[in-house]
Amino acid sequence: MYFFCKTRVLLPAVLLLLLPALCMAGHGHDRPQKTGILLAFFGTSVPSAQTALDSFMERARAAHPDVELRRAWTSSVVREKLRRTTGQAPFGVVRALAQMAEDGFTHVAVQSLHTIPGHEFDDLRAVVDSFRRMPDAFEQLSLGKPLLWSDRDMKTIARALIDTHGNELDPDAALVFMGHGTHHPSGAFYAALQFHLSRMAERVFMGTVEGSPSLRDIRQELQQAGVRRVRLVPFMSVAGDHAMNDMAGPQDDSWASILRAEGYEVECVLQGTADNPAIAGLWLEHLELALKHLQFATDELDRH
Ligand code: CO
Repeated sequence: MYFFCKTRVLLPAVLLLLLPALCMAGHGHDRPQKTGILLAFFGTSVPSAQTALDSFMERARAAHPDVELRRAWTSSVVREKLRRTTGQAPFGVVRALAQMAEDGFTHVAVQSLHTIPGHEFDDLRAVVDSFRRMPDAFEQLSLGKPLLWSDRDMKTIARALIDTHGNELDPDAALVFMGHGTHHPSGAFYAALQFHLSRMAERVFMGTVEGSPSLRDIRQELQQAGVRRVRLVPFMSVAGDHAMNDMAGPQDDSWASILRAEGYEVECVLQGTADNPAIAGLWLEHLELALKHLQFATDELDRH
């Protein structure tokens, strides 16, 4: 009886005092805040092309010297290829995020280094959403947009591409970019980018390896423009397998060979977009936004 009377007064008082601590313990708020960045690259199996990813890592590190930076490769095909050839593979996003949770990170900005919001980005977003629903993984997880998301992004990138590769284009020369291309609906971004390129400069064309516009489309454009010389540049984060083989390779069916066979003088530039400061700058802007949104519980992708 004595016990009951005493607890009737004491228990609510103790509970009231403990309430904030109890609530926070359940949601992991008792951990000290630890912020991190995870850069999600497609990846590449070509060692020399990895330097573009390293150089982007360096830029991101210089922009955020106080935040720990990690990377993951979203392409399981590339990871598997590397595991077979070198015996070790970089982490995919699931393993990288699981490791970051294990290492005590509470706030993580995941930045997509993809070019368009296609299949790879859809998968990345699904993984991020899954980690958001996991209890005790992170307090905040934000996802930074791929390179092309808004109309403004497309204007910025069209300008950067022309400034980097097409400023001193002679009247008999054309600039042709090779994007990856996809059958995902966001494959339309390449045609949309062409719209902005055409408004800014003449004889600048965006083609894709696996989608639309195709090389056949580009060849018609080149014929109509009456050019003799073509500069080929990859529009992919790295100058990897597609750029070295499908674009610049010596075999008959590479873009360079097909255009040479038609009589064009062809020059190939082997630089990935992650290695181009003007283009890397937009990815870094998207990362900046993702870091800002770590303060909110909402998904910034729906708001901008
Ligand atoms: Co491919």
